[in-house]
Order: sequence, then structure tokens, then C-alpha cells
Amino acid sequence: GSSESWSAVDAYIAERLVKADAALEGALAANAAAGLPAIDVSAAQGKLLHLLARSIGARKILEVGALGGYSTIFLARALAEGGRVVTLELEQRNADVAAANLERAGVRDRVEIRVGPALDALPKLESEGAGPFDLAFIDADKPNNANYFRWALKLSRPGSLIIVDNVVREGTVLDAQGDAMAQGARALFDAMSAEPRVTATAIQTVGSKGWDGFAIALVNS
Ligand code: DHB
Ligand code: MG
Repeated sequence: GSSESWSAVDAYIAERLVKADAALEGALAANAAAGLPAIDVSAAQGKLLHLLARSIGARKILEVGALGGYSTIFLARALAEGGRVVTLELEQRNADVAAANLERAGVRDRVEIRVGPALDALPKLESEGAGPFDLAFIDADKPNNANYFRWALKLSRPGSLIIVDNVVREGTVLDAQGDAMAQGARALFDAMSAEPRVTATAIQTVGSKGWDGFAIALVNS
């Protein structure tokens, strides 16, 4: 396989199953126009997040790392009636782009964007009693993945799902001497495997985002 064919198949999947959508395509265009890096989840991955959130009837969703809000749209559209997404974004510039994209998608009223370091926002969410979140999607700075996982667990309930993007990183997860992103992925696997309160797996993916993967943890009853 080559990354060209992976991308072509992703385009095929998106064309058949995600469908052209003005809000999603507009979000990617607005992100590019604003100079945001094109590191959003793929359309197929966004749809997977949407299906997982819907399948558990999620009413409260936590996202760590909004970027331009592309995945946020998929999650917000999955919410049960009256549901909310809280998305944490470090950069005000990204949050402004995300807000406009969410507005265009008609879901701005269901999404709260909190700007600043997620490691400041997460304890604040806890002290506010904002949880428990039915689903958490972690897709921010990779070196903090284990920390975000621990916070997501703290803000969860039995039956919650915690999903983490970019846990394979072109296979660099195997490199114990790897860069900070690889170390972040390894720390996440260590934290998940040592955590008796979750049942977890990870799935490698290829596609328009290269070779990477999602980790998925279910909080045990
Ligand atoms: C990067 C971040 C992501 O969340 C992703 O999906 C791909 C790449 C990055 O920071 O390079
Ligand atoms: Mg990612």
C-alpha cells in the first residue's frame, strides 16, 4: 500500500458514506484560509466519532483540542436532545475559527469552547461539577496524552468512552527513544494498561492522515 492509495480509498469512503456537506467542507476551507495546519481527523474518522457518540446516546461530550472544530461538528451533531460539547483549545485564533465553523454548521449553541491550556481547564471542569462526560475525545498536544487520559477518566462515569487520536504515529510508538510525540503515545499506553478502571484497545488506521491510530477505552461499571 501507498499513502496515495490510502488517501484515494479514504476519499471513496467519504464520498459514499460521509457525503458532501457544506458545513464540514466549509470548515476545512475556513481552516486552510486561516492558516491552521490540516491535521484534523479525516472525514471517515469524524464519522466514526459521530457513530460512537450516537451509539451511547451521549449527552455530554468533552473534547481536548478543538483546532478549527472539524471533529467538534461531528461530535455536536451526535448529541442527544439537550446535549452539550465542551471543547478545550489552547489557541484563541483556532477557537475563533472553530466558533465560526460551528456557527455555520448550526451547532454553535450546543458547544462551549474554553480557551487556554487544557491542563488548567480540566481541573476547573472538575471543581465546577461539569462532568461526568459520556465521551471524551483527546486530540491535542501529544506529550500530555496520559495526563489528558487521567483527567478524562476523572471526569467520566461507568460506561463512558475515552478516545485518543494519534497513538501510532507512523509506528514511532515503538521507539522508546522517540520524540516527544512518540513518548506521549507510549505514556498513554502505559497509563491505559495500568488502569484497572478501563477496558481498552487501540486500532491502527491508514488513510488520508497516513498511518496512525485511535485508542479507545471504556470505563468499567
Ligand atoms: C498532528 C496532530 C494531530 O492531532 C494529528 O491528527 C496529526 C498530526 C501534529 O501535531 O503533527
Ligand atoms: Mg489528531
